[in-house]
Amino acid sequence: MLAVTDLHTYYGESHVLQGVSLDAARGAVTAVLGRNGVGKTTLCRSLVGLTPARAGRIALNGVDITRLPPYRIHRLGVSLVPQGRRIFPSLTVRENLAIAARGDLDRVFSVFPRLAERAGHRGNELSGGEQQMLAIARALVARPLLLVLDEPTEGLAPVLVAEVAAVIRRLREEGTSILLVEQNVAFAVKLADWAHVMSRGRIVHSTDPAALWNNEEVKTQLLGVPPAGAGARPRRDL
Ligand SMILES: Nc1ncnc2c1ncn2[C@@H]1O[C@H](COP(=O)(O)OP(=O)(O)O)[C@@H](O)[C@H]1O
Ligand SMILES: [Mg+2]
Repeated sequence: MLAVTDLHTYYGESHVLQGVSLDAARGAVTAVLGRNGVGKTTLCRSLVGLTPARAGRIALNGVDITRLPPYRIHRLGVSLVPQGRRIFPSLTVRENLAIAARGDLDRVFSVFPRLAERAGHRGNELSGGEQQMLAIARALVARPLLLVLDEPTEGLAPVLVAEVAAVIRRLREEGTSILLVEQNVAFAVKLADWAHVMSRGRIVHSTDPAALWNNEEVKTQLLGVPPAGAGARPRRDL
């Protein structure tokens, strides 16, 4: 469904995406994993047209969207849930969702019953988990074909991480394709059908998630996961 080929994106002179190539299959959860600063958010922004790529190609179902403005990419069915949620703190849940649509709020509230209960509460009255649900709900109002989630578990307590996982599973069952951008490797490998590993502006490894989980070298060197059995022992190599 999504085919990214040799994508290059800059902030001014700073060359951040240095030839990203990846695919995401229809109906699948595709993970993009990588440490802080490797360019994950920049990739998300290029996909939705917010920071357009300077070279390379992004195709959605065979249609070249590389140079389209954000509103047209959104209309073609790609929605981003940005890192840090970016909901409107002084607006209610209902108002935050109404800004996104025209769409059908009943469906969104059926996926997120807790938001239905909180429909009249302001964004700043929600818990971190509820804010993340609202950010996802807002992206879903448009009924996207491809949902791009930029670090949805960042800063969430484990019980809320489990809720985000349940939402992702449900959306996948309903046929939404998902690009799951994460630093939380354990979370992503449980949900993903395929995983890409990013390092310094490139995809350096593409793999079955189970194989990734068993690849100690990639996990420790590229993803910062402590070596198996390391537990809480102090690291003598630092
Ligand atoms: N708006 C910006 N202007 C200049 N440099 C940026 C900007 N946003 C991010 N960067 C730089 O681009 C690199 C990749 O950042 P980012 O895409 O946010 O990585 P990640 O999401 O993987 O943590 C980092 O070196 C970061 O400092
Ligand atoms: Mg980021």
